[in-house]
Amino acid sequence: MLSRDFLLNLAKEYGTPLYVYDGDMVVARYRDLFGFIPYSKLKVCCAMKANYNPGLLALLRDAGASLDTVSPGEVIMALKLGFPKEKIIYTANNMTDAEFEQVLATGVTMNIGSLSRLKKISVSHPGISLCLRFNPDVCDGDHAKTMTGGDLTKFGILLEAVEEVKSIVRAGKLKIIGLHEHTGSGLQRAESVYQSMENLMNIATPENFPDLEFLDFGGGFKVPYKPDEARIDYVAMGKEITRRFEAFTARYGRKLDMLFEPGKYIFAEAGYLLTEVNTIKHNRSRVIVGCNSGFPQLIRPVLYDAYHNIENLSNPNGAGKIYDVCGNICETGDRFAEQRLLPEIREYDILSIQNAGAYCYSMGGVYNLRAMPTEVVVSGKKVTYLRKGLTSEELCNQILSEGKLL
Ligand code: LLP
Repeated sequence: MLSRDFLLNLAKEYGTPLYVYDGDMVVARYRDLFGFIPYSKLKVCCAMKANYNPGLLALLRDAGASLDTVSPGEVIMALKLGFPKEKIIYTANNMTDAEFEQVLATGVTMNIGSLSRLKKISVSHPGISLCLRFNPDVCDGDHAKTMTGGDLTKFGILLEAVEEVKSIVRAGKLKIIGLHEHTGSGLQRAESVYQSMENLMNIATPENFPDLEFLDFGGGFKVPYKPDEARIDYVAMGKEITRRFEAFTARYGRKLDMLFEPGKYIFAEAGYLLTEVNTIKHNRSRVIVGCNSGFPQLIRPVLYDAYHNIENLSNPNGAGKIYDVCGNICETGDRFAEQRLLPEIREYDILSIQNAGAYCYSMGGVYNLRAMPTEVVVSGKKVTYLRKGLTSEELCNQILSEGKLL
């Protein structure tokens, strides 16, 4: 956890709104997983969709991490940052033919999640090696919008289609080197992790898929967002995951690689969005705090009703009061916290919105023509990477230069 004074100094130096990332924590979280899951052929593919900050990704690259990518843009960025293609898995999601060709040409591992795409590949690219994404048929996650298993979602191939998969694979002489599933984000029950693993391992027989090199069980490891929320016992979970996977490899007859693709676990708690309060309004029933960031810069509370803990860095010991903490965007729903007990907030106080490392900046946009904030990565108490946000002037110039009257 970065200290209040340190964060306040960064706010003073770089201005607000400001994203701050604790690079040491990100690397520590990556390394932790190898302690929790004592399987010798474990690979951790960090989910770059959660945070594509180049400074953080460079730290993970140097620590030896692999990456989970989901768009041609993410693949290009990963390669430009020097991740070897062997360490990148591309999990396609409703991709176009052109995207397929573009990513295939880079040589990264392609993970295919629909029968329709698999059929097209078996005709157009017979003989190639692929990973297949199955739908684990387990529903879990921290919100309906973050659950990816089960019949209602667009992800993966249904487990019951395995015979059809085999006949397409046979017809195209495809080599299936990996099987994948992702159950959801912020998985609430350890049992869901185990059940999804078992469902995938059940179809991963040498008879069905003789060429497997790895199984990939996606992401979903949850971290606490509320101060009183319990931390999962990942030591116990990691042991159980290893026990089950070793039983599987004994059945399969070969020690396969075991992959996970954590995003929240690696990045969430390492990020802070610092914002300055500029307006306090006393409505009849609510005290409304207005600050200089808004939902396009951190959308999780609006999109998922997500709870992000807020600290008043400038007045940590103030008397507790109830506030609605709102942003600077022209929308009623532009709120980081509703009816939240916080130490007294005064105009010009700096608030720190916590757990802003995963799916915050990366889901951002420039609604209302407000540019995304500056980002800094901190390592060993020093800023080691700076990505400056655009000024309003620069943002407008960029947009104007992108188009022309025809
Ligand atoms: N692998 C795949 C194929 C995924 O789709 C995802 C997340 C992950 C790995 C990483 O999951 P994680 O370990 O971060 O839970 N924007 C939402 C989360 C959506 C995640 C989408 N896919 C949020 O802010 O809660």
